[in-house]
Amino acid sequence: MKIKTRIVIVVGALCLLVFVFYKEPQTTVSSRKTSREKSEQTEPPIKNNSYTYSWQKCQINVTASNVTGFSDLPQTIKDFLYYRHCRHFPLLLDLPDKCGGAEKSGDVFLLLVIKSSPANYERREVLRKTWAAERLHRGVWIRRIFISGVSGDGYDEERLNNLLKLEQQEYRDILQWDFNDTFYNLTLKQILFLEWMERNCPNARFLFNGDDDVFAHTSNMVVYLQSLEQNEGGRHLFTGHLIMNVGPIRAPGSKYFIPVQVQESNSYPPYCGGGGFLLSGYTAGIIYRMSKSIPILPIDDVYMGMCLAKAGLDPTSHMGVKTAGLHIPSRKVDGYSPCFYKEMLLVHRFLPGSIFLMWNRIQNPNLICGSSGKAQ
Ligand SMILES: *[C@@H]1O[C@H](CO)[C@@H](O)[C@H](O)[C@H]1NC(C)=O
Ligand SMILES: *[C@@H]1O[C@H](CO)[C@@H](O)[C@H](O)[C@H]1NC(C)=O
Ligand SMILES: *[C@@H]1O[C@H](CO)[C@@H](O)[C@H](O)[C@H]1NC(C)=O
Ligand SMILES: *[C@@H]1O[C@H](CO)[C@@H](O)[C@H](O)[C@H]1NC(C)=O
Ligand SMILES: *[C@@H]1O[C@H](CO)[C@@H](O)[C@H](O)[C@H]1NC(C)=O
Repeated sequence: MKIKTRIVIVVGALCLLVFVFYKEPQTTVSSRKTSREKSEQTEPPIKNNSYTYSWQKCQINVTASNVTGFSDLPQTIKDFLYYRHCRHFPLLLDLPDKCGGAEKSGDVFLLLVIKSSPANYERREVLRKTWAAERLHRGVWIRRIFISGVSGDGYDEERLNNLLKLEQQEYRDILQWDFNDTFYNLTLKQILFLEWMERNCPNARFLFNGDDDVFAHTSNMVVYLQSLEQNEGGRHLFTGHLIMNVGPIRAPGSKYFIPVQVQESNSYPPYCGGGGFLLSGYTAGIIYRMSKSIPILPIDDVYMGMCLAKAGLDPTSHMGVKTAGLHIPSRKVDGYSPCFYKEMLLVHRFLPGSIFLMWNRIQNPNLICGSSGKAQ
């Protein structure tokens, strides 16, 4: 690299640092707040954080290694078995007022709960300005929360934590716990969220629970949820891409590998694909209660199914949820035609640029779709 370019980069970085640290965080935060949040800001609630920080560091269960065949298991499964019993971790980033306090949380109609690892900054940015934008839609509130753990080691970990902190100052939309954000810890992430919800947002009507790499048509979700008869969140609902009659994958090379040491039974209960599903606040509460007596299985969507089964509740299928991707009838047709997506609830998986483009294209009131699914 040329010396001149280097100097320009260093000076630029310094200016950015000065800018970040000298600007008053409150002004940027409040300018983004809705009027509801603004009125609350004048009287900051007294917070008691002793709950969130009081958990002891969870100890390794060395006895776990006594199980038959332990030494032949992949490291990720070993890690899982050593720490399977751990269910409480300190909260690094909290949002105690996201739902306006526990009492007022019934004003949140649809809470978007999006699993996001610290490094997925671009995904979060694009979701904030597309399908996960907090807004009043058809007279009801949509709110957004990203749920995250910690990843990386040493300086990497510190940098990613600082990134989340900075995002939190600007957007107030992150819950972060101090656990290793890995694939096999997704169930833990889910349980920690449900615990948080019981404390801070127990009356939210409905939840969308999903990944940060999906296209979720949240406006259609509101239409669907408002159309439910006699369910304003107080009755059972759990719907998405229904998966039945499957069991643990026993091939050690698979991302979803579950050895008998983790689960002996060869079958899973019915569940909805974890790319995204909808549930009522009522059902979220039941799942949390059930989870307390079910050992953690590291596949998060299956675990939800186990909690439902224990409560005697069924997950259902919604045709608009395509967590396995969309079947496009012909290669000649553009698979990203907005016509395929404007009636959907969710499609997996999308890159950030495609989400931005699609979200804007389906908003177009002049969009006309022919029978082939082609935009005209
Ligand atoms: C905070 O909550 C804890 C546990 O609920 C309680 O023991 C403690 O006294 C509270 N502290 C304050 C300052 O209210
Ligand atoms: C530790 O692992 C052993 C063997 O799997 C298990 O029986 C025991 O219940 C575990 N202990 C805790 C505290 O989870
Ligand atoms: C685990 O195995 C070690 C050595 O094989 C043994 O000393 C120990 O008692 C075992 N622990 C339990 C709880 O079975
Ligand atoms: C889950 O997180 C805990 C806490 O950071 C960590 O000890 C454990 O190894 C993680 N489990 C997996 C399977 O990554
Ligand atoms: C988190 O898990 C990853 C993958 O299992 C591992 O490489 C890393 O060392 C773990 N980090 C911590 C802090 O436990």
